Amino acid sequence: MKISIIIPTYNERDNLKELFERIDRALEGHGYEIIIVDDDSPDGTWKLAGELGERYPVKVVRRVGEKGLSSAVIRGFHEASGEVFVVMDADLQHPPEKIPELLKAIEDGADVVIGSRYVRGGQVKNWYWYRKLISRGAILLGRIALPKIRDVKDPVSGFFALRRDVVEGTELNPVGFKILMEILIKGNYKRVVEVPFTFGLRMAGESKLGGRTVWNYIRHVLRLMNWEGELDRLIKFSIVGALGVVINEGFLWTFVRFLGWDKILANVAATELAILNNFTWNDLWTFRDVRGKPLWNRLLNFHLAALTGAVVQWGIYVGLMFLGMNYLLANLVGIGFSFIVRFLFNRHVTWG
Ligand code: GDD
Ligand code: MN
Repeated sequence: MKISIIIPTYNERDNLKELFERIDRALEGHGYEIIIVDDDSPDGTWKLAGELGERYPVKVVRRVGEKGLSSAVIRGFHEASGEVFVVMDADLQHPPEKIPELLKAIEDGADVVIGSRYVRGGQVKNWYWYRKLISRGAILLGRIALPKIRDVKDPVSGFFALRRDVVEGTELNPVGFKILMEILIKGNYKRVVEVPFTFGLRMAGESKLGGRTVWNYIRHVLRLMNWEGELDRLIKFSIVGALGVVINEGFLWTFVRFLGWDKILANVAATELAILNNFTWNDLWTFRDVRGKPLWNRLLNFHLAALTGAVVQWGIYVGLMFLGMNYLLANLVGIGFSFIVRFLFNRHVTWG
């Protein structure tokens, strides 16, 4: 089984020697190649990599006039000749000694193996608590927005291994820089395994990511949601919700005006009818392709979602008024949150 180790680099000259040495030692007995995809680093990383090619099986791709971490990794896939690809950083934050463990999991039947910071036994060294919080929050957001990866604890790791056919023939978008997430959404695979590792300290040089990272990440998640059809669902769910408001008001008016019902009782009945209406349309349209649970179960959960949404809405309404906010505005904020809660509840539970 030939292994291609793909390493994107930009100004990583001072890390190369130790990196190659440790990879070579870790992979003793394996057939492997190292693919360095360097974006014409001013410090001459490409040059040193070429020189070290006399001692190690290195192939250097020097890209001129092109930049970007994801596109570099994708280029590496195209240049690689192995059956298994390993992607890692050059700065030794990803310990080469872990590679055999990733490969073992592939041999045992996994299609994608993630070097994971967030499964038991994994960790991050020397991050301030707020850095950890941002990382965790961003990952949670991605997992909630993209049900396909909701069981993956570290979908943005830059350290992973995969079988060649997972990415062969897929159209990966080179724009985002969380290439693993892109692969987990668009790749052809069945089994994902996470292997814990310690995300260490950068040996030499400095990080190139940061700055507008969070904003770019959110845009990437939105693009993937769109690709997955999750944004379409959100729109359909909104349309159904709007229809439900009309139905609710219409029945309330009918019951009070023409049947002379008590206004409280009429509201309960009208609300229930609106819920049944919304359920029907969401079941036949919004979530048509993900009807796994039996009908009674979906119906029950849809009611639970409505109830949860109502409680959230009311809680926010009372809370914000207590803080001095105008009651109409407070209700609007409540409705917004209720909408999100109901959508997510239904997406992950009712039609999960
Ligand atoms: N060719 C190329 N082009 N390589 C790049 C570029 C680029 O534009 N930008 C960064 N790299 C290379 C770096 O030289 C390094 O080998 C690797 O990509 C990771 O870059 P770092 O700057 O060290 O990233 P980081 O440590 O902040 O982030 C890492 O951890 C994140 C998880 O917290 C990366 O592995 C991320 O992918 C990962 O999401
Ligand atoms: Mn790094």
